[in-house]
Amino acid sequence: MCGIVGYIGPREAYPIIIEGLKRLEYRGYDSAGVALFDGTDLKVSKTKGKVADLEKRSEQEITKHGSVGIGHTRWATHGVPNDVNSHPHISNSGDLVIIHNGIIENYESLKQELISRGYTFKSDTDTEVLINLIEDVKKQEKVKLGKAVQIALNQVVGAYAIAVFDKNKPEEVVIARLGSPLAVGIGEDEFFIASDASPFIEYTKDAIYLEDEEMAIIRFHKGIKIRKIKDDSLVDPYVQKLQMNLEEIEKGGFDHFMLKEIYEQPKAITDTYRGRLLREEAIIKMAGIEDNMKKFLNADRIIIVACGTSWHAGLVAEYIFEDLARIPVEVEYASEFRYRNPIITEKDVLIAISQSGETADTLAAIKLAKSKGAFVFGVCNVVGSSIARETHAGAYTHAGPEIGVASTKAFTTQITVLTLMALRLARAKGTISSSDFRRHLLELEMIPQKVEESLKSDAHIKMISDIYKDVGNFLYLGRGYNFPVALEGALKLKEISYIHAEGYPAAEMKHGPIALIDENMPIVVIATRKGHYEKIVSNIQEIKSRKGKIIGIVTKGDVQVKELADHVIEIPETFELLSPLLTTIPLQLLSYHIAVLLDKNVDQPRNLAKSVTVE
Ligand code: M6R
Repeated sequence: MCGIVGYIGPREAYPIIIEGLKRLEYRGYDSAGVALFDGTDLKVSKTKGKVADLEKRSEQEITKHGSVGIGHTRWATHGVPNDVNSHPHISNSGDLVIIHNGIIENYESLKQELISRGYTFKSDTDTEVLINLIEDVKKQEKVKLGKAVQIALNQVVGAYAIAVFDKNKPEEVVIARLGSPLAVGIGEDEFFIASDASPFIEYTKDAIYLEDEEMAIIRFHKGIKIRKIKDDSLVDPYVQKLQMNLEEIEKGGFDHFMLKEIYEQPKAITDTYRGRLLREEAIIKMAGIEDNMKKFLNADRIIIVACGTSWHAGLVAEYIFEDLARIPVEVEYASEFRYRNPIITEKDVLIAISQSGETADTLAAIKLAKSKGAFVFGVCNVVGSSIARETHAGAYTHAGPEIGVASTKAFTTQITVLTLMALRLARAKGTISSSDFRRHLLELEMIPQKVEESLKSDAHIKMISDIYKDVGNFLYLGRGYNFPVALEGALKLKEISYIHAEGYPAAEMKHGPIALIDENMPIVVIATRKGHYEKIVSNIQEIKSRKGKIIGIVTKGDVQVKELADHVIEIPETFELLSPLLTTIPLQLLSYHIAVLLDKNVDQPRNLAKSVTVE
């Protein structure tokens, strides 16, 4: 995690870096720092806290002038968040300065070696070790900065995206990547460096994404040279045209990114099926599936790997794939899968789901599956991300940038893509009739409008949130397709409001969680009319007789649950299979309003970061 930004060119670097860091705060926000070359010397300002704290601090500490600079927003790994551990870090001589996203795993042995050679360390970080290693190599080998970075990185075990410069040669910035993302924006005689393209989107649409094990030397007036870190071979830069625009990464009148992203779901879902769902022709067109149809049809099973919310989307997909396409599916936490010696064969298809496309465990699971010969398909949101590049084929969710740490539109668009895939495969396998296929296309096409309708309960949900905001625990129950939605609802609540919440399959309640129920326990029950309705009604009665407070998510016009529940939130009628796309909306709003009422930092909840690029 951590966000890094850099600039080299004719403009003032400071405002570009600060604005860029604000856009990257989703990647980490426990400390921040900036280093500038002001024409004569290196100026560094850094602090525990957010970029706003850095702005206040740098106001007093530095002149803020200079057209070369680097900045960092941190999610702590080695060393607690404090001023000293904040980046940038400076080498012992005071000449070299670095920012780093990632983890140097062998930093302890490197540090001991450097200490034995007289180096001293102020911080507890692995990054300070790396910059001194670079300095040591530069001195010992009498090489230029670029070469020293390369030699040092060849001694390093771990993951990194780094930017380094030497105050004695400030017209040159060296960057490198392994396992952590790094993009370079190419302007007119100016370069922007960042963990993703958002910090430079208003300056240029031309970007180079460094691949793993690549480094680049960027020189003012002279351009960029990319090399392989291992063998020094030159790489031809591939310049991509960015599609993103500034409005997409701004709040657009909403109080929080999370709320904006919840409200963007009708559009995000439409964008995701546009051009793929062709209702009039009664076909689904997905290049990644068409080109690899045999792999899917001959697969013994599909293994889905993901983390967090994406894992919940995977669980929904398990129901959909098995139901429609009759292909056996297993869903695994990427972090468990990769460490447990799983049985994978060439007849397996692995689907990796990730909003960011940078989640380290998911990436590692992909590499493992590939090494065993499985075909790997990615479902990612971020174009050009590591997972998108590492997979054999894939389908993007066209959700647009998701900035709030709590995933919302990523979840519903992932389910949309996975539903399209399952429908397409079901058609190819003949496990769905043509009339049923058409009915599903029609209904899926109507989902955005139904999401829009579901959003109209916002004020009612806010009122319910006010009643329950001070409780210590919540239970979420759902069955079938909506069991993963119960898990997702509970995750949303805990991550942004810090209220303990658990999701359960409703029928499992009797096997333990029922002991928790008393008059103080709110229980959110997803009780739509289609999915095992009568059984859910019985579960609600069991809760009622133990005095639990029931918040029912029901189909419009529901009568039975309304009589039993303390509150109901209505959603429009849809197919059971598509219902997670609607039932999730009130749960997102409930967690949002509770967190706001509790005055929590909704977009940047404590201890979290948007993309988890460490293992
Ligand atoms: O970028 P990814 O989809 O791979 O991220 C996976 C999880 O880290 C992510 O879904 C996380 O659980 C969110 N904070 C949930 O809201």
